[in-house]
Amino acid sequence: MIELRRITRRYRQGESPVVALSNVDLQIQDKEFVAVVGESGSGKSTLLHLLGGLDKPDDGEILIDGWSLTSANERELTQYRRTRLGFVFQFFNLLPTLNVLENVCLPLQLQGRNEKEIRQRALELLEMVGLQHRVRHLVHQLSGGEMQRAAIARALIHRPSLLLADEPTGNLDTENANRVMEAFQWIGEQGLTTLLIATHSSAIAARAHRVIRLANGAVVSGVRGGARS
Ligand SMILES: Nc1ncnc2c1ncn2[C@@H]1O[C@H](COP(=O)(O)OP(=O)(O)O)[C@@H](O)[C@H]1O
Ligand SMILES: [Mg+2]
Repeated sequence: MIELRRITRRYRQGESPVVALSNVDLQIQDKEFVAVVGESGSGKSTLLHLLGGLDKPDDGEILIDGWSLTSANERELTQYRRTRLGFVFQFFNLLPTLNVLENVCLPLQLQGRNEKEIRQRALELLEMVGLQHRVRHLVHQLSGGEMQRAAIARALIHRPSLLLADEPTGNLDTENANRVMEAFQWIGEQGLTTLLIATHSSAIAARAHRVIRLANGAVVSGVRGGARS
């Protein structure tokens, strides 16, 4: 379970500080599929960055299965990101010189795992996101939606317990966004991992177990923990 306790994050912008998150209390259950919605600037990315260990709050604590993410040192944070966390970005962040299969295999290869097992797991995931016919393609030969589905497969290869996605369909046309959405829906249905998606898409929110709405850095609805539906 993930627990946020009175999390506050401020940014200093010249004279006036911006409060990106203010006293946020939240609990997220294992395998829950949560959509985080709210206008631009409401604090969605800040929340995801804190949960990803990419940023630290000014106040408050984040506990992951009782382990304090917010008091972890650099070495522990690196270990956390490598083993427990998957991250999907708006702009895919795939390596252009590698083909799809190589991109998906890379995180596990960096851990020095068995090559045959890695390939098998990667091919399974690529099939599940509907890219079995694209495994040898280079990144620039893919549509935006295919790139994002490859990025999702890559984010799942090490079996993370938490998958964070920051506006994963923000840069896609409707058809591509729909395919990416189906991939997330499949992840939620399979209960592969806890899934937190910051999104403007009402279609993604409709598929989530719970919708958390942020406004001006505060949770205005969805604060109550949901059991998996
Ligand atoms: N690095 C930063 N420096 C200064 N202000 C920031 C920074 N990152 C975010 N902010 C501010 O914090 C608020 C929340 O931003 P963000 O979490 O990116 O919102 P969202 O993802 O919902 O659009 C906004 O007012 C934004 O301008
Ligand atoms: Mg954002």
